[in-house]
Amino acid sequence: MKFTTIKLVYFSPTNNTKKIVRSIASGTGINSINEIDLTHLSKKSIEQIEIKDQLTIIGAPVYRGRISEDAAERLKNLKAKNSLAIVIAVYGNRGYDDALIELKNIVEEVGFEILSAAAFVGEHSFSGKNKEIAHGRPDKDDLNFAIDFGKQSYKKLVSSNDFTENKNLNIPGNFPYKINDKMPALAPVTIEENCTKCGKCVEVCPVDAVKLNHKIVTDKTICILCGACIKNCKNNAREFNDPGLKKMIDGLFTVCQKRKEPESFL
Ligand SMILES: Cc1cc2nc3c(=O)[nH]c(=O)nc-3n(C[C@H](O)[C@H](O)[C@H](O)COP(=O)(O)O)c2cc1C
Ligand code: SF4
Ligand code: SF4
Repeated sequence: MKFTTIKLVYFSPTNNTKKIVRSIASGTGINSINEIDLTHLSKKSIEQIEIKDQLTIIGAPVYRGRISEDAAERLKNLKAKNSLAIVIAVYGNRGYDDALIELKNIVEEVGFEILSAAAFVGEHSFSGKNKEIAHGRPDKDDLNFAIDFGKQSYKKLVSSNDFTENKNLNIPGNFPYKINDKMPALAPVTIEENCTKCGKCVEVCPVDAVKLNHKIVTDKTICILCGACIKNCKNNAREFNDPGLKKMIDGLFTVCQKRKEPESFL
């Protein structure tokens, strides 16, 4: 089977998934690339998308051992016909638990056949200056792994016409998936004296939880703690200050120091 174009579909509030998906695409050697960034797309516009006769790389971040709920919800609104997918879960060096198998299942349910799958590490959404977790990931080695994985996936693609066996790729994870407790309503706060009211945090928030009137206001009930507003604020005017969350980040910092490597399933 041969494809001359490739589609990239991702949800990526802090851009790690986007970087990895792009490197995999470059490894396939296909130059004609079309991207669908689901991070800021509404349900209504995603429902209009039908992917036909396409090789597609689909990436999403891991939140609490599952695919981010917002990514999953968006992906479930896609439709695919006669298309093959390479699926990628990106996690912050703790673990990806059931996320990659969940992503594979979602993507199959909307009509794709699976070509290959991989899990990659990206800097943790909760990584900060004093508590770095997977800082700088994906790094050069990760991106080289991604390029090579793209190459191998393409090789597999051209050497076969039947991908039904890929249903049984040996991806770790459980079904039924792990069930998480409901998160308490939490969000980053604004350090007023540092804030210039530039509006960047409003622009990057994937769930429209941040508004700028005479000052920045954040709706805790819809924030998904993705960290995009903190990482994109040039004035260090956003931070997590909830004591419970800070304690959890301290714990993560301790258990996530040993470097984990990307894994591929072909
Ligand atoms: C609410 C939340 C939960 C997370 N849970 C996990 C997890 O279970 N395991 C892990 O290793 N990383 C976890 N992460 C970290 C993200 O998977 C990681 O930072 C990823 O690189 C984000 O991708 P993005 O840059 O494409 O948004 C979590 C992040 C958030 C915001
Ligand atoms: S990005 Fe930072 S400086 Fe800009 S409005 Fe948001 S909090 Fe303020
Ligand atoms: S307010 Fe919450 S959801 Fe919005 S960018 Fe910040 S951390 Fe992410």
